[in-house]
Amino acid sequence: MSSGPAIETRGVTRVFESRKGFLFREKSRTEALKGVDLTVERGSIFGLLGPNGAGKTTLTKILSTLLLPTAGTALVLGHDVTRETDWLRPRMGLVLGGERGLYNRISARENLRYFADLYGVPPEARERRIDEVLERVGLIGPASDQRVEEFSRGMKQKLHIARGILHRPEILFLDEPTIGLDPKSARETRKLIRCLVTDGVTIFLTTHYMFEAEELCPKLAVLSKGRIVARDTVDGLRALVGGDRTFEAEAYGFEDEEVARLRAIPGVSKVVSESYGPTTRLTMRVRTTEATLDDVRSRLTGHPELSLRERRTSLEDVYLDLVEEEAR
Ligand SMILES: Nc1ncnc2c1ncn2[C@@H]1O[C@H](COP(=O)(O)OP(=O)(O)OP(=O)(O)O)[C@@H](O)[C@H]1O
Ligand SMILES: [Mg+2]
Repeated sequence: MSSGPAIETRGVTRVFESRKGFLFREKSRTEALKGVDLTVERGSIFGLLGPNGAGKTTLTKILSTLLLPTAGTALVLGHDVTRETDWLRPRMGLVLGGERGLYNRISARENLRYFADLYGVPPEARERRIDEVLERVGLIGPASDQRVEEFSRGMKQKLHIARGILHRPEILFLDEPTIGLDPKSARETRKLIRCLVTDGVTIFLTTHYMFEAEELCPKLAVLSKGRIVARDTVDGLRALVGGDRTFEAEAYGFEDEEVARLRAIPGVSKVVSESYGPTTRLTMRVRTTEATLDDVRSRLTGHPELSLRERRTSLEDVYLDLVEEEAR
């Protein structure tokens, strides 16, 4: 297998122009990607996070040759996504999920036969390969001969993944692979994703589930309003937002001076206040090991109802910090 990064983009920009309003006279212009520079190593799972509308699907489509960038360059497996599509397409798989892209009136197996022919799977290997992928996604048995219109959402998503790996791609793009799946199916799907990586497939996935990203992805990037705002390991991202430790203090409201006193504790990088009905929660990001809950308690006297706890900063905390910073 060749070396070099699996994905390398420089200044990838995508503008959508459309007409709307009365007689479509108004022109609307959306800059979905505003100069994305991203490098993804081979043989691993890379996670792309970001709020709705950040540009994740747009980037996934550009990388998988489904959509052209307006400007910039993108190489996948060392080949240009706009000029070398013939080389790239047999080597990449894409799972966008949802209702589209499958034929409802025929069975799962018949769908896979159609796609196998389309992807150039050798006819003598076809049936074996179909059984193999149906087995992998857990659709082997009576379900494989059932019409897709009778499938639940989870079964359809499994079939989408089966279709995505049928031609044994070197790189697989998964846009929200576990969306709409029940916990058991989602877990099975994550297990399958890990197995694919063990077999040497590079995986690029988008997700809104932070625990999923934390569980699956050694490296992550956060996309916000068309720009990459952070790219690191989960631990690297924790350090970036100011701390591995998180303290929480809850009581019936706090004074501004009390919050200021907490901010002054050495190592406390951030204090955020949120109201939950009658109670207020202060969340503190803590950089050092020296700061303790006792430091917090001694600055919040006069709250008999005070509850304090320490926990590890989660990827969800990190993500919200990063996305909020961008919104400011
Ligand atoms: N075909 C299109 N025509 C016009 N605008 C589009 C088109 N596709 C995407 N956009 C716009 O580009 C931006 C990025 O959309 P995209 O679907 O890439 O976001 P996303 O990060 O995948 O969001 P989500 O988490 O909701 O899936 C949005 O503002 C969206 O409205
Ligand atoms: Mg999307």
